[in-house]
Amino acid sequence: MSASENTTPARQLVDRFGRVHNNLRISVTDRCNIRCFYCMPADNVQFMPRAELLSFEEIERVVRIGTTLGIDRVRLTGGEPLVRRELHRLVERLSRVPGIVDIGLTTNAVLLGEQAQQLRDAGLKRLNISLDALDPEVFKQVTRRDSYDKVIAGIAAARAAGFSPIKINAVSVKGLTEDQLIPFAELARETDTEVRFIEFMPLDADGQWDREKVLFADEIVALLQAEFGPLAPVPAANPNAPASDFRFADGRGKIGMIASVSKPFCSTCNRFRLTAEGKLRNCLFSLEEVDIRGLLRNGGADEEVAEAMVASIAAKNEGHQINSSTFVQPDRPMYSIGG
Ligand code: 5AD
Ligand code: SF4
Repeated sequence: MSASENTTPARQLVDRFGRVHNNLRISVTDRCNIRCFYCMPADNVQFMPRAELLSFEEIERVVRIGTTLGIDRVRLTGGEPLVRRELHRLVERLSRVPGIVDIGLTTNAVLLGEQAQQLRDAGLKRLNISLDALDPEVFKQVTRRDSYDKVIAGIAAARAAGFSPIKINAVSVKGLTEDQLIPFAELARETDTEVRFIEFMPLDADGQWDREKVLFADEIVALLQAEFGPLAPVPAANPNAPASDFRFADGRGKIGMIASVSKPFCSTCNRFRLTAEGKLRNCLFSLEEVDIRGLLRNGGADEEVAEAMVASIAAKNEGHQINSSTFVQPDRPMYSIGG
């Protein structure tokens, strides 16, 4: 029998705080075709040599082993995952792994025009698009690239391929993206689109993060309420979801807040990460990692890989310390960790 959501495996990835981990985020590359300032340096980025990246076979093996420990959902991230050649082949492989009930992808949509249909055909169920501005000039300020039209075409291709609803994640930055909030809310109200605003986190490459630059979820809600009237919280369907959703008073549309900084959701975290070069990270903000590429490439048994996963989760801290004076920003920025 294949494992499913409802069968509890003999061993689970439970940490010291009782959190059960069933969700693995897999970075497939640290490369990216744009340069969001909150993630990457403007230029001279040192990417990992290709030989260091896990192959699709290696990733599939890790996922298969993960299912014996209760992993049942995965999300592919980057860098920008669509710059990894033939990504749909990985989706195909993973969608055939018994016990995997959900595969998601987080993309900047620049290459989605070319790939949306083949990803859908390969078994991709969920797509999150990272787009921080609907104004092309602001888009350019954030991403330092001119790819706005490709992104819009990519989103259209995703709709045409049957991804529904379209989900957009927008990082919000004080002094930069306030004017984007109402246009995004209108998009959510008028089309089959869910928009979630994410607070800017200290994961940038240039050490530019500053609390003063965080546009807080409460401020976003207040700005939207001034335009659209009261927003009502929607009870969370999934207790592990990081977003808090709100409905507009007239019942049209829904908007989400990912208040990573002001209201950390670490207590319900069920995720861990595999970097493109095969390191397990139990938190975005971890300062330590567990290497599994060495095991994969040096004849390690499945059981050793499983033990490495158990060890990574056992070492997980209670939560990030962004709001503490002792916070230490990880030395890997977002593009190299995987979003
Ligand atoms: N703060 C908040 N969100 C970030 N992302 C990347 N860097 C940051 C940051 N410093 C987002 C991307 C994407 C997701 C993978 O993470 O925009 O939506
Ligand atoms: Fe690329 Fe994503 Fe980083 Fe933007 S946030 S530079 S799209 S990896």
